Amino acid sequence: MWYWTLFPLRRFSTQAKSINLYTTPIYYVNANPHIGHLYSSVIADALQRWQKVLNRGATVKFSTGTDEHGSKIQQAANKNNVSLQDYCDAISTQYKKLSNHFSVDYTNFIRTTCEEHQRTVEAFWKILEQNGHIYSSKYSGWYCVSDETFLTETQLKESVDARGQRVIVSAESGHPVEWTEELNYMFRLRAFRDELKYWLTRDAAIVRPRKFQKMLLDAVCDADLPDVSVSRPSARVHWGIRVPGDGTQTIYVWLDALANYLTVAGYAAGDGGEAFGRTWPPDVQVIGKDILKFHGIYLPAFLMAAKLEPPRSILCHSHWTVDGEKMSKSKNNVVCPFDRTETYTADGLRYFLLREGVAHSDGNYSDTKVIRILNSELADTLGNLLSRCCGTALNPSQVFPRIETGAFDKVASLDVTKKLMENVASLPGTFM
Ligand code: ME8
Ligand code: MG
Repeated sequence: MWYWTLFPLRRFSTQAKSINLYTTPIYYVNANPHIGHLYSSVIADALQRWQKVLNRGATVKFSTGTDEHGSKIQQAANKNNVSLQDYCDAISTQYKKLSNHFSVDYTNFIRTTCEEHQRTVEAFWKILEQNGHIYSSKYSGWYCVSDETFLTETQLKESVDARGQRVIVSAESGHPVEWTEELNYMFRLRAFRDELKYWLTRDAAIVRPRKFQKMLLDAVCDADLPDVSVSRPSARVHWGIRVPGDGTQTIYVWLDALANYLTVAGYAAGDGGEAFGRTWPPDVQVIGKDILKFHGIYLPAFLMAAKLEPPRSILCHSHWTVDGEKMSKSKNNVVCPFDRTETYTADGLRYFLLREGVAHSDGNYSDTKVIRILNSELADTLGNLLSRCCGTALNPSQVFPRIETGAFDKVASLDVTKKLMENVASLPGTFM
């Protein structure tokens, strides 16, 4: 039986869902965009374009944007000696430019500093609180500002910093942590363990590739599934949305950021939930593996707590490395997409990322590889094919008819096409 009909999770249920929602992560404005950000955006863009090709009547909402609150952004603006708003405006513009330059055909560009989003976050918080899932508690733990998250002892390791000092860092990201003790509001994550388990087992294709779904399930089943701290003292983190009714606390930047998908779907639109009912839940959320826990555990649990449906699917991809190393500002190996288009063009770089990236394992970026692939595939193979098809030998009159879109349906209905599609669809199961 379909689980969500047993538990009426939809708050606005008068409208049937009729809008497809595709999303990218919203990117931190602490640094300029690099090819990793572009990669997520072009995957999501390709998926939503494909959806429109497959189903020409489909209405698609496709969102991207910027994540602008929290201590990480406070620190970055301070370091650059600019006001927080000016700082966010400048970098957010770069991300918008990235989407526009690379034909990422978004319908909504969301900034977490906009008013409608603030209303969403406040309304969402109030529902979580009313439903009894938030409590106040003294919290102490290791906080990683770079990843904006508390970590448990098992998620830490010792390392040596640039000055040769011993430091404690996140085992996963390598970023330093600091011991923090403060009064926080907590979210009862543990109470959602069974529902999360159910969500992650009832369909093997909720999170693709499958290995990421398995990682989530392992984490949910782990004895150590701590409740989540969902606020910070405003005295320390002032750049954010205040907890409704308690100005001394600022809402945790991840709760704020994850709610962006609700904002985009029209959660706070003030139309009685009409647009939201037609749009929610997201059909495909594209994310990188670094933010899997937030999208595959925290967000679904927050949604369940608010009696809303979790996303229909998550596509999680691995990372681009450069010369086998993680891209990072400190290593000075960040690949700037704008620089590269001067040589490769925007379509060339899009082609390379989609052609060469593999979701289930990290890919290594190298300019030599880009040049080789663009020359051999775009210029020699496809370019040559196009030039032959258009040449006078095949087309003496040199008249080029417009694409007849009905032809797609004819081709799709051929048995050979169906067989081919079936084979392609079964590939992921074979190799993962
Ligand atoms: O985490 N390879 O933002 P962020 C491939 N604001 N993709 C990469 C990548 C790489 N080397 N580096 C980054 C945040 N990405 C939060 C998200 S969502 C509600 C909030 C991509 O600026 C990938 O999609 O650190 C990753 O998940 C995202 O950028 C992180 O961007
Ligand atoms: Mg990051």
